[in-house]
Amino acid sequence: MGKIEKNATSLSSSRQRKTFQQMQAELHSHGLKRSLGRFQLTMLGIGSIVGAGIYVMTGMAASVYAGPAILVSFVVAGLACLFTAFSYGELASVMPVSGSAYSYAYLSLGEVFAWGVGWLLLLEYGISDASVAAGFSGYLTSFLQDIGITMPQALVTPTLGTTADGALVGHMSIDLLGAGAIGLVTFCLLLGVSENATINAIIVVIKILVLLVFVGLGVFYVHKANFTPFIPPATDGFHYGYSGIFRAASIIFFAYVGFEAVSTASSEARNPARDVPFGIIVSLLVCTLIYMATAAVMVGVVPYRELNVADPLAIAVNHMQMPWLGSILKLAAVTGLFSVMLVLLFGQTRIFYAMSYDGLLPAAFSKLHPRFATPWTGTLVIGVVVALATAFLPLDIISDLVSLGTATAFGVVCFTVIWQRNVHPELERPFKVPLGAIRIKNIWLGITPCLGIFFCLVMAGPLLIDMVLAFFRGNPVPLLLLLAYLLIGILAYICYGRKHSRLSKHYNQ
Ligand code: ALA
Repeated sequence: MGKIEKNATSLSSSRQRKTFQQMQAELHSHGLKRSLGRFQLTMLGIGSIVGAGIYVMTGMAASVYAGPAILVSFVVAGLACLFTAFSYGELASVMPVSGSAYSYAYLSLGEVFAWGVGWLLLLEYGISDASVAAGFSGYLTSFLQDIGITMPQALVTPTLGTTADGALVGHMSIDLLGAGAIGLVTFCLLLGVSENATINAIIVVIKILVLLVFVGLGVFYVHKANFTPFIPPATDGFHYGYSGIFRAASIIFFAYVGFEAVSTASSEARNPARDVPFGIIVSLLVCTLIYMATAAVMVGVVPYRELNVADPLAIAVNHMQMPWLGSILKLAAVTGLFSVMLVLLFGQTRIFYAMSYDGLLPAAFSKLHPRFATPWTGTLVIGVVVALATAFLPLDIISDLVSLGTATAFGVVCFTVIWQRNVHPELERPFKVPLGAIRIKNIWLGITPCLGIFFCLVMAGPLLIDMVLAFFRGNPVPLLLLLAYLLIGILAYICYGRKHSRLSKHYNQ
């Protein structure tokens, strides 16, 4: 037993961590087939990235916060993800396990951090599905309109909404279409229909191709005047100016969420140590380029103030007077958004499965269905919660929570790299973060993970400040939701996780 493991045994149960030997034992006993290569992993990454962020939120972020400077916001958010992606890459190469950041935290930082990261990942993988479902509902409604079917507003609008200046409004409606989509995704997952690599690759090709056609044709309809002023003068709060660029970046950050879904498939990768980092980084780079091109054409074709709608790409196509492209684009968006919902919710059920296996969540979350071999109770619970969020909450409130939770989880991932380099310098690292490191008092501080933490703070800062400002403007919902979420997480760990943790039982024997 190494020094670290010995130290771990002497720590209180809340600081216990799994050993690398335990990880290896669990890794070899999972029994999953190692069939995914670089191509499939990259496709899996792109499949989970491209969704509501580019199809829906880019319009709102440009219209309300950044104007044409949304392009800079994409760079800022992309950098936050890139530095984190390198950190994920290194951790995935050292610990090719399923469970993503939750497992990395458990192995490196201990149980409390693992719980915290698992709870934050619920926002990233589970609750983010509600935003994607809202986008799905918007594009499907618009497509149905094209073919002569008008959905009643009362069935496609969530009960709560926010105005452009952040005030809360209530409607006599629920987003039944979005909630129904979550119901369908849950049903698919219950039956075991999930990440089929071939179907995923086909859907990825469709959604990317449509965006490329949009860019290829749209570029001829760009008006230079729409880029002037590039940074609209700041008004109040985070609206426009430099602060608007950062606020928009924290929204656009959602568009990149999911790039590390590749790491949840580590135990099914042929060569996880090399191919998972490759899949994470390449899918992120490809998406960044496509996003920037799409956003440039969007704000180039349509004056940015007109883009605060549920289907901004369709508005741009209307400006290009190509109704045929509009309908194809909406159909591709609907297909693509459905696949994102499927991949993200699948990832969520597997993270809960891992947490339940470790005793941090009730055994029901890892209980497999006798016929379909899926964690059906956990899937059902998550499905119902996400469907309710979709039906009642507006997209911007949910996605702000998702971005905040994700930025925090990403920050912990970057920190894990630093921690592990200092505590386990001897581990073999097939993939290492680039840019080297500085040493302060012999502590290794990698430039890449430090920049990752910095940019994650840049993402989280405007969101937090805006939630507090919204509270004082008379919209307490975002801040109250955040506080309630944190409180439930803390109570759940204290009242359940800490007492039932398998690791703590092991150490207390
Ligand atoms: N990145 C995913 C999306 O934009 C979550 O829908």
